[in-house]
Amino acid sequence: MNKKTALITGATSGLGYEFVKLFANDGYDLVLVARNNIRLSEIKNSFKNVNVTTIAKDLSIEGAAREVFEQVEQEGILIDILVNNAGFGLKGSFDKLDIQKQLSMIQLNTGALTELTYYFLQKMKQRNSGRILNVASTAAFQPGPLMAVYFATKAYVLSLSEALMEELSGTSITVTALCPGATKTNFGAVANVENSKMFSQAMSAEVVAKQGYAALMNGKRVFVPGGANKAGVLGAKFMPRRLAAKVAKYVAGDK
Ligand SMILES: NC(=O)c1ccc[n+]([C@@H]2O[C@H](COP(=O)([O-])OP(=O)(O)OC[C@H]3O[C@@H](n4cnc5c(N)ncnc54)[C@H](OP(=O)(O)O)[C@@H]3O)[C@@H](O)[C@H]2O)c1
Repeated sequence: MNKKTALITGATSGLGYEFVKLFANDGYDLVLVARNNIRLSEIKNSFKNVNVTTIAKDLSIEGAAREVFEQVEQEGILIDILVNNAGFGLKGSFDKLDIQKQLSMIQLNTGALTELTYYFLQKMKQRNSGRILNVASTAAFQPGPLMAVYFATKAYVLSLSEALMEELSGTSITVTALCPGATKTNFGAVANVENSKMFSQAMSAEVVAKQGYAALMNGKRVFVPGGANKAGVLGAKFMPRRLAAKVAKYVAGDK
C-alpha cells in the first residue's frame, strides 16, 4: 500500500498536536504547519516511524496559504487528508478589541482555511479521493457576544464545510466539520477565556481529537464531541437567536 500523507495546520499544540500523534500512530506521513519553527522541529524529530515535513508559516498573513500549497507541490507531496485546525479566539467587546488582531483572526480562521481547502480539493478531485477536516466549534451554532468575531468565523467554517460536503456528494471526497466545545489547550489563555463559565467543564484535547479523528475517518459531516456540548448545540438550534445570544454572553462571563 502506498503511504498516505496528512497535512495539519496548527500542529504545534492542543488539538493539532493530538491529531499529529493519531495520524503518526496510523502510519501517515505528515506535513505540519504552524509558526513556531523550533517546536515544529522538536515534533519532527520525535517521530521516527513516518516522514515529517515542516512548514513554518504565519497563516494569518495573506498569501501564506498559497505558499504552503506551492511548497507541498514543489516537494511532490500528495495530500490525502487536509486538517484545517489552526485558529484562535479573542474575548472582549468588539469595539475594544484590537481591529488588526480581529482581522488576523478572520484571515487565519476562515481565509487560510478556505484557500487551503480550495487548492488541495482540486488535487483530491483529480484523484477522486481525499478527506478534509475543518475544525469549527460549538461557537458556530449561535451569535457570540464578547467573542463576536470568533463565533462568526466558526459559523463560516461550519457553513462552508456543510456546503462543500453536499457539492461533493457522489464523489469519494469527504468534508467533516468538527465542532468542539471548551477544550483544555492553549486556546483558553490566548483567547483570555480560561476563567469564563464556558471553560468550567472543558474536555481533554486527547479525547476531542480522538473522537474528531474517528468522525473524519467515518466521513461524518458534522461532529460535536461530548454530551454537554451536543445538548448545548441542540438547545441553540431550537432557541430564538436572540435568546441564544444571551446564553452565549452569560457563559462567556467569568465564573
Ligand atoms: N480549545 C478550545 O476550547 C476550542 C474549542 C472549539 C474550537 N477550537 C478550535 O480548535 C482549533 C485548535 O485550537 P487549540 O484549541 O488546539 O488551540 P492551541 O493549543 O492554541 O493551538 C493553536 C494552534 O494553531 C497554531 N497557530 C496559531 N496562530 C497561527 C498562525 N497565525 N499561523 C499558523 N498557525 C497558527 C498554533 O501554533 P503556533 O503558535 O506555533 O503558530 C497552534 O499549533 C482552533 O481552530 C480553535 O478555534 C478550540
